[in-house]
This record gives sequence, C-alpha cells and structure tokens, in this order.
Amino acid sequence: MIDITPLDEPLGAEITGLDLSRPLSDEEFVNLESALHDRALLIVRDQQQTAPEQHIAFSRRFGDLEVHVQGSFLLPGFPEIYRISNCIDEDGKPLGLAEAGRVWHTDLSYMAEPSRCSLLHALEVPQDDTGNPLGDTVFANTRIAYAALPDSTKQQIADLRALHRYGYIYDRINAVSKPGRQGLKPLSEAQKNRVPPCIHPIVIAHPFTDAPILFVNDGTTEKIVDIPEAEGGPLLEQLCQHAIKPDFTYRHRWRVGDLLIWDNIQTQHLAIDDYWLPQRRYMQRTTVKGGKVRAAA
Ligand code: SIN
Repeated sequence: MIDITPLDEPLGAEITGLDLSRPLSDEEFVNLESALHDRALLIVRDQQQTAPEQHIAFSRRFGDLEVHVQGSFLLPGFPEIYRISNCIDEDGKPLGLAEAGRVWHTDLSYMAEPSRCSLLHALEVPQDDTGNPLGDTVFANTRIAYAALPDSTKQQIADLRALHRYGYIYDRINAVSKPGRQGLKPLSEAQKNRVPPCIHPIVIAHPFTDAPILFVNDGTTEKIVDIPEAEGGPLLEQLCQHAIKPDFTYRHRWRVGDLLIWDNIQTQHLAIDDYWLPQRRYMQRTTVKGGKVRAAA
C-alpha cells in the first residue's frame, strides 16, 4: 500500500510502501505523478534493495531517459545512470562527478528541451563523527516563488527570455570549489556541441498543470537576452535570489535508500559541500527527458 504524506514544507511529500521490485499499476503511477506535480518533490524511502534495472524501469514510467553528456561518470552497463560521488576506484579514478550541483540550478535547463524530472538514489550517505548525515540537498519551489513576486515584477518579466548554458555552470562551480576538491575538467568540443546554449522564457507554463513558473537559476542562466545587460544583470540576480528564499525551500537530509524524484520544471536545487573522503557519498541519478518549454499565458 503506497502512502503519500505531504511534508509541512514549501515542497515535498514522503512516499512509503512503494516496492520497486514489482510493476506499478497505472492507478498507483497516476497518484504518484499527480503528487509530483502538486508537491514538486517526492521522497521515496527504503529503497536499499533497488537495483539499477529497477531504478531505470521506474524512471521510464515518467518518460524517455537522457544519457548525460559526462560520459565517464555513467554507470558501466547502464548509460541512463549518471553517478554523483566523491568516491574513487582502486586506481584513484573518480566514480562520479563529486561536485555536481554545488550552485543552485535546475537539471538540464540548458537544453532546448529541459528535463521533466530527475530521480536520485542514495546508496552511500556521508556522516559526521556523531552520526549526523552530511551532503544535504536543498530544494526550492519555483512555482510558489513566482506566485510570490510583486505584480510589477510579474509584468516586467512577462515577455522576457534568458540564455542558459551548460559551460556556465562549470565556471560557477569551479569558482566556489573548495581547496582539495575534484574540480570540473573543461568540456571537450564534442561535449559542448552536444549541449549548445539555448534560450527559454523567464516565466514558463508547467506542461502538465499550466501553472506559471519562474524559470531562471544562478547556475545555468547566463543572461536575460531581451533587455540591455545593465538592466538584465541586476534583474537576473534579483530573480535568482528571490527563487531561493527560505519561504520556498526545503533542506533534505539523506538516508541510505532514499530515492528522490524532483520535478525539474518547477524546482531548483543545491548540493551542500560539507564532507569529503573518507566521508563517502555515492548517488545514482536518472534524468527524464522533457519537451520544449512554453511561455506562461
Ligand atoms: C544534482 O545536482 O543532481 C546533485 C544533487 C546532489 O548531489 O545532492
């Protein structure tokens, strides 16, 4: 019996009783999907036994899966799974991208067809000396952030568009990277060609609910394209800071076996950097394709 309990937070619902070793009925899936559209983030507990095949099969219920441009961090045999980890193999080679998400961002907002949702499975969670989890992830609900904007700002941004670029988040993450961390290697020309910059409306309509969403983020949104930089730069900064106000955010403390599903269209997230080896963090992510976004009416 699947139980869906909304958190007393600006987003999120806890899901218990979901057994990913068996197929979900259509009715169960529709309930989960509508909770995702409503709460923007689902926290599925107790998935310690979920294998990559089951993670992929479950993710496919939401749509086709992306194969991430960071080829060296894909799980061997499972190109749909992108590894986020500070762990290294016996040859000292990183198992995953350790510094994914170190600045506020929306997964794949830099693509012409941004991702619908991501599913991140926690297999190892770092802890401090007293057993408290480290490596939290903070999520922001950009639907309620948009709703809370003053009417004058809503009018000001109604027809504006912004440029998103993958290489931009690289620079942003390297700028905040702490000494001794892995850092991000420059993208190859082939990788850059796979993810050229793209332009999206600043206020988009959620593809399933039509709700207006504030679709800019500190990590991948480089500039507003329809107004001069002298005006657009400060406006972009103001919108990005607004979206992550405490009134719109929830900080998730991971447990081993958590599988989080977040709606990329109406959220942003930030991975907190407060651990390093020998504190190990190992996560596996699938990323569901979305369609072209459209401006809110
Ligand atoms: C991500 O940006 O998808 C990674 C989030 C995390 O590692 O907490």
